[in-house]
Amino acid sequence: MGHYFEAQPAVGSEPVDVEVCVGGGTFSMTTDRGVFSYGRLDRGTGLLLRDAPPPPASGDLLDLGCGTGAIALSLAQRSPDARIHAVDVNTRALELCATNARRNGLHNVHVAHPDEIDPLWAFDLIWSNPPVRIGKTALHDLLATWLGRLRPGGRAVLVMQRNLGADSLHRWLDGSLPGWPTTRLGSSKGYRLLQIVHPPADGI
Ligand SMILES: C[S@@+](CC[C@H](N)C(=O)[O-])C[C@H]1O[C@@H](n2cnc3c(N)ncnc32)[C@H](O)[C@@H]1O
Repeated sequence: MGHYFEAQPAVGSEPVDVEVCVGGGTFSMTTDRGVFSYGRLDRGTGLLLRDAPPPPASGDLLDLGCGTGAIALSLAQRSPDARIHAVDVNTRALELCATNARRNGLHNVHVAHPDEIDPLWAFDLIWSNPPVRIGKTALHDLLATWLGRLRPGGRAVLVMQRNLGADSLHRWLDGSLPGWPTTRLGSSKGYRLLQIVHPPADGI
């Protein structure tokens, strides 16, 4: 069995279409084997899309670890004037996300491998169901990198299972980003929804 975060999934392709209706939006997406959450919307992702505060109407919004693109597509529908960046290391996921955006007429989604994003580029919002399975150290490195690219006043919302370490991640965020308040926005069916705020430049 491979991992959903392999660059090139070894498992054969067997696409399955899914209709998603959540957070006031509706879209269809093709899922595939070798990509996270085959044949369904992940329950944690559903919680994020349902309960996260509304995204900004404009600016640069990032779906970190986009998979088939559920988060990116929802952001694009809700914020048609924003630029949605969808990044993943899994090439099958990147192809699916790009196709899914096109199919739903969402032309503000830019799909890329993380290495293709200018490291100086900054974001107003990050939404992510992060890749916990890559291991704690790699996950911390990944979050430190991308959270560090939030603009002052920007925020991130992460969803994570409690039994995969959400509360320990919350403590790590508190310790690693002093002055950047991390709050638990919600908790449902074993998932935690965490929000991290990069304080505005004027400190207000
Ligand atoms: C838990 S899945 C979430 C997928 C999708 N956002 C969803 O909600 O269905 C995490 C995703 O992160 C991707 N990923 C793993 N390592 C990554 C990295 N270093 N940079 C960006 N994405 C990564 C995985 O390939 C996977 O698609």
